[in-house]
Amino acid sequence: MGAAFYAHGVIRTRFFDEFLTRAVAGKCRQVVLLAAGLDTRAFRLTWPKPVRLYEIDLPDVLAFKHEVLTRSGASPRCERTVVPADLRADWPARLEKAGFSADQPAAWLTEGLMLYLTASQAASLLCAVSRLSAPVSRLSFEHAPMAANDLLVQARHRQGRRFRRCADLRRSRALPANAGRPRDAASAPPRTLR
Ligand SMILES: C[S@@+](CC[C@H](N)C(=O)[O-])C[C@H]1O[C@@H](n2cnc3c(N)ncnc32)[C@H](O)[C@@H]1O
Repeated sequence: MGAAFYAHGVIRTRFFDEFLTRAVAGKCRQVVLLAAGLDTRAFRLTWPKPVRLYEIDLPDVLAFKHEVLTRSGASPRCERTVVPADLRADWPARLEKAGFSADQPAAWLTEGLMLYLTASQAASLLCAVSRLSAPVSRLSFEHAPMAANDLLVQARHRQGRRFRRCADLRRSRALPANAGRPRDAASAPPRTLR
């Protein structure tokens, strides 16, 4: 299970690295990382000049990141601006106030977020991105439905084996009825933005 998630993370990271690298080699001089979390692309990738990179996430996440980056003495390799904002609220205004121009092409990245959203939350987010996107802007995100996610299939398979072991234990030690039962991602309610 750990190895599968590791491989997924490596491949996904490389895929989005290449997406952004190609976008800025083209006409995009603005990059927006929606729900950036602890993304370090501003520090890790080689950016042409001038590129302005905006990171949007919740204030407490960005404050923690700032603390860690400051302690480690990291310097961004592009013009980096953090935009503490709630993606359920008025984040477009905050982004524009931070210097983003809706008249210039942008590369948008929404990594590790869309698959947790309900359809209507995803639609609102995409509509807002669309309104802020000048021609030739680009957007990248992963969108595999949870139930079709290969990793989940593997996880279910492995958890299934664990579940069978738990069932044996339950019989012998009277564990709770749902101990070790794999969660059914297809029927689970979608996770919402915090
Ligand atoms: C799974 S992490 C992905 C982080 C990063 N993009 C990555 O792939 O490593 C999801 C991120 O969404 C952010 N997030 C969740 N709800 C949010 C909201 N309402 N507004 C802004 N960011 C939010 C979390 O703080 C977290 O950093």
